[in-house]
Amino acid sequence: MHTTFAGKRIVVGVTGSIAAFKVAGWVSSLTKEEARVAVIMTDSACRFVAPLTFAALSGERVHSALFAEEGAETIPHIQLAREADLLVIAPATAHTIARLAHGLADDLLTCTVLATRAQVLVCPAMNSQMYNHPAVQENIEKLKGYGYQILTQESGRMACREEGPGRLPEWELVREVMLQILAVPDLAGEKILVTAGPTREPLDPARFLSNRSSGKMGYSLARTARRRGAEVTLITGPTALACPPGVRCVEIETAREMHEAVLAHCRQASVIVKAAAVSDFRPATPFAEKVKKEQADLQLSLEQTTDILKELGKLKKKAGFLLVGFAAESHNHVAEGEKKLKKKNLDLIAINDIGSVDTGFAADTNQVTLLDQDGISPLPLVSKEQTADLIWDHVVRLLAKKNKE
Ligand SMILES: Cc1cc2nc3c(=O)[nH]c(=O)nc-3n(C[C@H](O)[C@H](O)[C@H](O)COP(=O)(O)O)c2cc1C
Repeated sequence: MHTTFAGKRIVVGVTGSIAAFKVAGWVSSLTKEEARVAVIMTDSACRFVAPLTFAALSGERVHSALFAEEGAETIPHIQLAREADLLVIAPATAHTIARLAHGLADDLLTCTVLATRAQVLVCPAMNSQMYNHPAVQENIEKLKGYGYQILTQESGRMACREEGPGRLPEWELVREVMLQILAVPDLAGEKILVTAGPTREPLDPARFLSNRSSGKMGYSLARTARRRGAEVTLITGPTALACPPGVRCVEIETAREMHEAVLAHCRQASVIVKAAAVSDFRPATPFAEKVKKEQADLQLSLEQTTDILKELGKLKKKAGFLLVGFAAESHNHVAEGEKKLKKKNLDLIAINDIGSVDTGFAADTNQVTLLDQDGISPLPLVSKEQTADLIWDHVVRLLAKKNKE
């Protein structure tokens, strides 16, 4: 799997917490994403998980002793500190946090942290009483002052069977923050509005008309734009997905609500990407009561919803945003996309082939064709997250061109 982690040197410092076993899974995931992972374990950490586990998962010898004979000629703490693109301490014990806060250098991990220029990400893990102790809180504040990033989970049940703060954050959140640190911030300063998911048009109090959109493409666009430094607002129809970290999510249900939310946010945006599958039609008069089965010969009368993309196309010049649309087409993709690009006054359109099993609605992969005034750029079949990054690469080029004009 080729992602932002590919080729990056990630140094993972594991310390003596009961949560150390969870980080073995993180190392495995990073290695699968082609990162080059070096694991440093404190002596206490080696009492919780065997170094062999981390060696096997990272494919590298685990580093533990400061005064090791093997590799001594390279001065391991300086070597590791220089190589690191990112240094993650997880789980970080109260003890290690205290030693770092006081600049101690009495083992391999603390020496490496002092010697590195890479961003240090600390993921504390401890009992809630320990975590809330003023000494620990004061030490955490000191680490923030050194420019280290501290990542904590709000609250949760722990191994000590207590509930509260101090739990090791979940991998999904840690991965996202790591990617935010590693990504090139080429969208910094941009205010990006993304729409995602389906809409639901009420038919009666129990039923609605909707479509197959899962929201995956729009959420990937929001997540990757945030990683690349943008301020992101995501207006989303009902999906099974969680709001990406650092993204402001606005939940809507109907096409009418989507229209209102987009109008409320569009003037502040520098780029708008409309990836939502907004219903083109809604029941003209929804039934006030649930329609009964006995009503065998039911006829539905539908009316058109507002074409939000077209409205944005008209507002675009005055408001000054860049407008990107999606087209889900089952035949004549390029011709249909070209028509939509012109008719709706878009800067860029991503044409989606919904006829194939690997692309379109609920799939995790996608293959889109990008179309702008300058021509066609077919993208490869890759994950929706990679597709999103390729779309942003194109948007970055369009923004640079716009700024020159
Ligand atoms: C069973 C057990 C679980 C522990 N879990 C934690 C923990 O989750 N967080 C923590 O800060 N300390 C924990 N400790 C205490 C640390 O292991 C101890 O402070 C140790 O000195 C940490 O050393 P290190 O920071 O150099 O790895 C635990 C100790 C034991 C015996």
